[in-house]
Amino acid sequence: EKGGWSSFMAKEVSEQPDAVANTLRGRIAGAAVVVPELTAFGDDALRDIRRIVIVACGTASYAGQVGKYAIEKWTRIPVDVELSHEFRYRDPVLTADTLVISISQSGETMDTLMAVKYARDAGAKAISICNTQGATIPRESDAVIYTHAGPEVAVASTKAFVAQITALYLFALHLARVRGSLSEAEQAEQVVELQGIPAKIATTLLQESTVHELANWMSDTRAVLFLGRHVGFPIALEGALKLKELAYIHAEGFAAGELKHGPIALIEPGQPVFVVVPSPRGSAHLHPKVVSNIQEIRARGARIIAIAEEGDVAVLPFADTVIRIPLASPLFEPLLAVVPLQIFAMELATAKGLDVDQPRNLAKSVTVE
Ligand code: M6R
Repeated sequence: EKGGWSSFMAKEVSEQPDAVANTLRGRIAGAAVVVPELTAFGDDALRDIRRIVIVACGTASYAGQVGKYAIEKWTRIPVDVELSHEFRYRDPVLTADTLVISISQSGETMDTLMAVKYARDAGAKAISICNTQGATIPRESDAVIYTHAGPEVAVASTKAFVAQITALYLFALHLARVRGSLSEAEQAEQVVELQGIPAKIATTLLQESTVHELANWMSDTRAVLFLGRHVGFPIALEGALKLKELAYIHAEGFAAGELKHGPIALIEPGQPVFVVVPSPRGSAHLHPKVVSNIQEIRARGARIIAIAEEGDVAVLPFADTVIRIPLASPLFEPLLAVVPLQIFAMELATAKGLDVDQPRNLAKSVTVE
């Protein structure tokens, strides 16, 4: 079933262009997003939403964090992202105009299922984003947007993650259309950008050899840090999680702006730091701030691995390695930037002789609390 790949994870990483394309399929009508499942949920119900709470665990929660930026930007509805297991034990405020969106690849994660049940009992509506047809969480929800990424066998989530983010963009654009919060021209622009993403992921996959060398070189590294900002922050968290679960290396993701508030004390000569660099065009206000973070930690001896847009020359004087991603509008960059981080964790685990598909102590689906 691995079809010539060394692991299911390698196969699933390579399938990411298709995963995104399959999530988009049947949900774009001309220049606008029309998700049939949301049409069935009802335009009035969508117009009534005053607040959104996203519940998920692990990688799915990082997809939720990326989705928050898009939903808030395009719909102006406030979004909170909560870990499912924290959510229901603190007596959260839930009203009939709160929409709870659960995200789960398996659709069987017990903590997320219980969060959905709790929310519906409290009178909130629940939509699930799920990759597994007919799973329990979608059955317990008012509507489901399936990601159609195909079966994900490796314990580490990869193609489901990019599909979840894609589904959240579709949700946000559908909602924006129904509520009139985005002009037709803006909607059309996002649709074109989104349709271009699968090809850009395919281009990003070609960076594999750079990442492979890096992983071999770093096979006895004891700790790795990941920095990001804006939508790059959840990608830093995801990069760190992948490295922990696959290569058993201590890894931490930080918001770049937090550096000065503590984490910079960790920097010592030779410390590897991955930095997800925002686009100098699309995020002109954030790009120089992240470059200056890079300078600060470089001056303290950090070894910088920058994930930066093609043509971004500002990073060159300070980065030891630059991994290039194609140009994309800022909200869509996570779908590209995460790819080298997945490959890095996978290659490093392989270099250490570890089982990439079945890391120790982990299950694909966590069906107990
Ligand atoms: O099936 P789910 O999406 O609900 O699973 C959620 C997490 O358990 C999952 O994403 C986990 O963090 C993965 N091992 C990450 O690679």
